[in-house]
Amino acid sequence: MELLNAIKQRHSVRSYLDKPIDTDVRDELRKYIDKCNQEGNLHIQLIENEPQAFAKGLFHYGLFSNVKNYIALVGKEDSTFDERCGYYGEKIVLKAQMLGLNTCWVGGTYKKIESVVDLKPGEKFLMVIAIGYGENQGRE
Ligand SMILES: Cc1cc2nc3c(=O)[nH]c(=O)nc-3n(C[C@H](O)[C@H](O)[C@H](O)COP(=O)(O)O)c2cc1C
Repeated sequence: MELLNAIKQRHSVRSYLDKPIDTDVRDELRKYIDKCNQEGNLHIQLIENEPQAFAKGLFHYGLFSNVKNYIALVGKEDSTFDERCGYYGEKIVLKAQMLGLNTCWVGGTYKKIESVVDLKPGEKFLMVIAIGYGENQGRE
């Protein structure tokens, strides 16, 4: 999928299939995240098979279903940290779309499970992007 098509097609998805990310897709996504991390001096991580951050009953607003994978936006904080997370986070969202995955930015309505994130000294875990195969994929 071309980038322009990904931009047109991408929309937030809150309900996901209970399906792990395909190995080849995951490898390509991880490679892309590594590239973004190098370019943007960030430590963004793909967390897979972790159901606690979006466990049922945590919030009444912003409901999600079956989120087991997410991207943790992590890095050393400075005056451009938020902006770099936004810029590279959106690049990763569009790459995910091109790989057939769906996404949703989530800044508040999730539980921070710090034990699954590799947080180096001085790094901040800003927010997450839910990622996976959307429930309505192929039917929209
Ligand atoms: C930076 C950011 C943080 C967000 N945080 C949350 C959140 O904590 N909970 C939530 O339900 N939606 C959150 N959203 C909203 C959704 O990601 C999404 O933008 C919204 O559902 C609209 O979907 P659409 O862009 O496809 O129209 C956030 C959006 C952004 C850009």
